Amino acid sequence: MYNSKIAGLGAYVPENVVTNDDLSQKMDTNDAWIQERTGIKERRHIKKGDGNTTAKMGVKAAQIAIERAGITKDDIDMIVFATLSPDYYFPGCGVQVQHLMDMKTIPALDVRNQCSGFVYALATADQFIKTGMYKNVLVIGSENHSGGLDFSTRGRSVSVIFGDGAGAAVLSREEDTSKGVLSSHLHSQGEHALELCLEGPSTEHWVPQIIQENPQENIPYYPYMNGQFVFKNAVVRFSEVIMEGLGKNNLTPDDIDMLIPHQANLRISQFVQKKFGLSDDQVYNNIQKYGNTTAASIPIALTEAWENGKIKEGDTVVLAAFGSGFTWASSIIKW
Ligand code: UT7
Repeated sequence: MYNSKIAGLGAYVPENVVTNDDLSQKMDTNDAWIQERTGIKERRHIKKGDGNTTAKMGVKAAQIAIERAGITKDDIDMIVFATLSPDYYFPGCGVQVQHLMDMKTIPALDVRNQCSGFVYALATADQFIKTGMYKNVLVIGSENHSGGLDFSTRGRSVSVIFGDGAGAAVLSREEDTSKGVLSSHLHSQGEHALELCLEGPSTEHWVPQIIQENPQENIPYYPYMNGQFVFKNAVVRFSEVIMEGLGKNNLTPDDIDMLIPHQANLRISQFVQKKFGLSDDQVYNNIQKYGNTTAASIPIALTEAWENGKIKEGDTVVLAAFGSGFTWASSIIKW
């Protein structure tokens, strides 16, 4: 048996900055409401013509991660791509990465677990490495939210939150099993699937049917979120799944050197921070700059924390996520 370790990290966000004031030009919202309820000051949106797509942003993040891992794309044995906003209904973004990066005909797997997508993807990659099947797995989280949001006042409770971007990690074989990904903890509760969802277009809600049957005021092809219900579940599940991971490794909250929570809402991160008695140095947040980038949020935050020297060898790093599904997950890593 081996462990896997994060050997390289990378992130990419589009250049186009969209402030809260920019959004208030399009819908009835304002900077004070968005900052007070979410902590978000600005986010990035793909701009028409800038060449970015979910897969292409993933490639940009992946190239940085691969270089930092000190390997080449030909050393990658598998791609695991997490997104809720793929470029195509099918095929997934993983195969696009294989093509865009001119890689060998390695396996490419898409993970559809929304805000928990990166932790699920990391756990999946970890299993292939632990069994000895693969040595280096490229794990990507990338989202193009802006292409599918309702920027009228009708969509304001969702559209102000989400941003575009990508993060990537190279997960590599680690012979020392006291290091790297120590354990992963994954959960789902499908009874709440429709509390945070995008119903169509899908095989249940195909486009011609939507146009014929749905009046403008009830469009199921924009994301829907029951915000307060999701919020209440998030704070409970974040806490549970962090404790589950710590317990499995005989650790306590005092042992956490760095918690990277999925960037859903600054108030959720602050609740978790307070609950576990963590200092500002022990939790990394960047939702202020990027909004909620779903599957990309953890790898972007992890990359920034690492770039800023906030993660050192030997640190206990905890990743935790909650989101649509509902799904939630944590990963306990010895850096
Ligand atoms: O990443 C996946 C997991 N996601 C989450 O964990 C998100 C969880 N939920 C949340 O973060 C919060 O529930 C939101 C940020 C989505 C909403 O914040 P809230 O404090 O729960 O607000 P609310 O939905 O209860 O709305 C309060 C008021 C409403 O007006 P009335 O009915 O009180 O008159 C909304 O219509 O705020 C209004 N509102 C807005 N006002 C200005 C909703 N969106 C906006 C907006 N600008 N963008």
